[in-house]
Amino acid sequence: MNARTTRTLAAALSLTAAFAISGCSGSQDDAAKPAPAVSDAFMPEPVNDKMAGAFMVIKNGSKTADKLTGVTSTLSDDLQIHETKDQKMQQVPSLDVPANGELKLERGGSHIMFMGLKTTPKVGDKVTVELRFEKADPVKVELDVKERTYTAHNSNAH
Ligand code: CU
Repeated sequence: MNARTTRTLAAALSLTAAFAISGCSGSQDDAAKPAPAVSDAFMPEPVNDKMAGAFMVIKNGSKTADKLTGVTSTLSDDLQIHETKDQKMQQVPSLDVPANGELKLERGGSHIMFMGLKTTPKVGDKVTVELRFEKADPVKVELDVKERTYTAHNSNAH
C-alpha cells in the first residue's frame, strides 16, 4: 500500500514534469512570438538638455513581423520615434521590424529622439530605455553614451 502510493506519486510527478517541459518549449505561440535582439545601442553625447538621439539595430529572428511602437526612459518623459524623409525628420507612430530581418536606427535615418532631458548624460554614462513592440514583450536596452562623432562599426556595412 505504502510502496504503491509512492510509485503512483512518482509517476504523477514525472508526468507533471514532462508536461511542464513540453509546455515551455513546444508551444506554437511561443515559437511565433518575436523576441527582438538589440545590438550597437548608443546615444551620442547630447549638446544640451533639450534633446538627444538614440541609435541601434533591432533584429527579429522570428517568422512574425513586428513593429516598434514606443520607447520610454527615466531620462525624458517624451521619447519619439522619428524617421527621416527628404533630409527632414518627422515623428511616426511606429516602425516596422520585418520578419527574419532588422530595423536599423542610424544617423540620417530612423532613430529614437528624446525631447527634454532631465539630466545631460556624458560620454561613458549609460541610459536605459524600454522598447515597446506590437507583438513582442518589452525589451530593456542600455545605451552607451558615446562621443558625438561616434558611429557603430556596422552602420556602413550595407
Ligand atoms: Cu529626430
